[in-house]
Amino acid sequence: MKYKVAFTRRLLLLFICFNVVLGKTPQEWKSRVVYQILTDRFAHTDKSPDEDCQELYEYCGGTFKGIENNLDYINGLGANAIWISPFAENTELGFHGYWSKNIYETNPHFGSKQDLKDLIAACHSRDVWVMADLVLNHMGYPDGCHWSGCPIDNANNFTEFVPFNDEADYHTYCDIDWSNEQQENVEMCRLAYLPDLNQTVATVRETLLNWVRDLNTEYGFDGYRLDFVKGISKDFWAEVDEASDSFTLGEASDWRTDFVASYQGSLDSLLSFPMYYTLEDVFQTSPLGKLTQIHDQLLREADEYQDTSVLGGFLDNHDRKRFLANNGNSATLRSALAYLLMAKWIPIIYYGTEVGFDGGNDPQNRESLWPHYDTSHELYQFIADVNTFSRSLGQNFIDSDQTETTYDDEFYSFTRLDNIKLRVVENCVVVVVINYVFLVFAVLTNILDHSNQVTVENGEVRVTLLNGEPKIYYNGELSGAQMSTSLRMVVYMMSLCVTSFILLSY
Ligand SMILES: *[C@@H]1O[C@H](CO)[C@@H](O)[C@H](O)[C@H]1NC(C)=O
Ligand SMILES: *[C@@H]1O[C@H](CO)[C@@H](O)[C@H](O)[C@H]1NC(C)=O
Repeated sequence: MKYKVAFTRRLLLLFICFNVVLGKTPQEWKSRVVYQILTDRFAHTDKSPDEDCQELYEYCGGTFKGIENNLDYINGLGANAIWISPFAENTELGFHGYWSKNIYETNPHFGSKQDLKDLIAACHSRDVWVMADLVLNHMGYPDGCHWSGCPIDNANNFTEFVPFNDEADYHTYCDIDWSNEQQENVEMCRLAYLPDLNQTVATVRETLLNWVRDLNTEYGFDGYRLDFVKGISKDFWAEVDEASDSFTLGEASDWRTDFVASYQGSLDSLLSFPMYYTLEDVFQTSPLGKLTQIHDQLLREADEYQDTSVLGGFLDNHDRKRFLANNGNSATLRSALAYLLMAKWIPIIYYGTEVGFDGGNDPQNRESLWPHYDTSHELYQFIADVNTFSRSLGQNFIDSDQTETTYDDEFYSFTRLDNIKLRVVENCVVVVVINYVFLVFAVLTNILDHSNQVTVENGEVRVTLLNGEPKIYYNGELSGAQMSTSLRMVVYMMSLCVTSFILLSY
């Protein structure tokens, strides 16, 4: 309903003013695979150093131009959107961007406003969308303050902040008490000693909303990732969503599904933290957790969220240990990546995953990508192959449901079906008993290994899973990336029933 209203308003605006650049809708974002970038860590403007950045608490030299000059690397991975870390000028050491000093300027370490506009234009010319990361909860550290503490004499020195340089722009000083998490306390108090803006003050609220609104005309971002959603009330987020006129994806970092889901409606969508924790329990514990947890979590999500298909899925990010830090087995990572990329949500790949980064807690998980660009890395190739496959299925894949077939503690499978044309073909119903798949007719090709085909005999297919490798079967003749789009379409149309399903096991 909400999307429909937004769409109408969008059309009206387009008629009134052709120059207004608007972002993309949640519906449109479903076609995206997002690559998450810390601008400072991705690439230098010119040739990046031959050595890893050593001082991970400091600036490492990545820039907007560095991203622009390396878009082939991102395209090659099959990503068609980037989420860049916050672009605003920061207080000292704010290489990650979450410590604003002047919200109206770009971070001079990353480049000028024009550099950022050039990056967005270069992305758009390749159909890569750009998601900006906005920090509306707090500003950076006042002079003399630090993430480990803030002397009371310095705590309210806001002189260098633009535009919020007045004590009245902030909540009265208090620190968030995480040991006894209370919503009011989280909203009113400081996160890691960062000055907490008071969005109830009319001028603060309007200034923030105008800032968000004006980003559309100044830069033309396609969507927004919103930082620390827990820290501000839902009524404010609803106004941010309205002002942005774009897809909004909030970070409510929490394992509770009902809590995270309660923000959907105010914002379009949320990062899928509860499923992140589930996938962590399944794939990153020793011994590995039960795969039924995925089923249990999906049931909770169906109950709690208004729309699960626009959630931002991820396996790790700049605030969590990397996947391989917890479990160094790359076959397990491929299983988790297969789930990430084939499930019905908006997948987000944290930069460096594609070259096997295994950094631990912040800042070890914020490695410089140089000198590790390696498009022949097995993980880069794996991600590219899965993305190429799902992209080749077009809108039918995007619209198709994610339907669980069979699962138990050690086995998990689901299908994504072309249910529009093929619903009538009753024989497409896949029934799986243990490791047998019953189909009336299908030749299934593992898109990750085309030599691995299984044929149906008496309505049965036996699938063997080895060493935790995922398999993604498709019942069309595939010759992979070499096949032209039109030929792939023919195969697709000619299939008696189009069934792709994914099997994860270990
Ligand atoms: C407040 O911070 C500024 C730098 O941002 C500094 O120059 C000034 O001395 C500080 N004022 C006080 C009273 O500490
Ligand atoms: C926030 O601003 C409102 C409106 O000005 C004010 O009533 C309230 O006391 C402020 N809250 C804090 C904790 O400073």
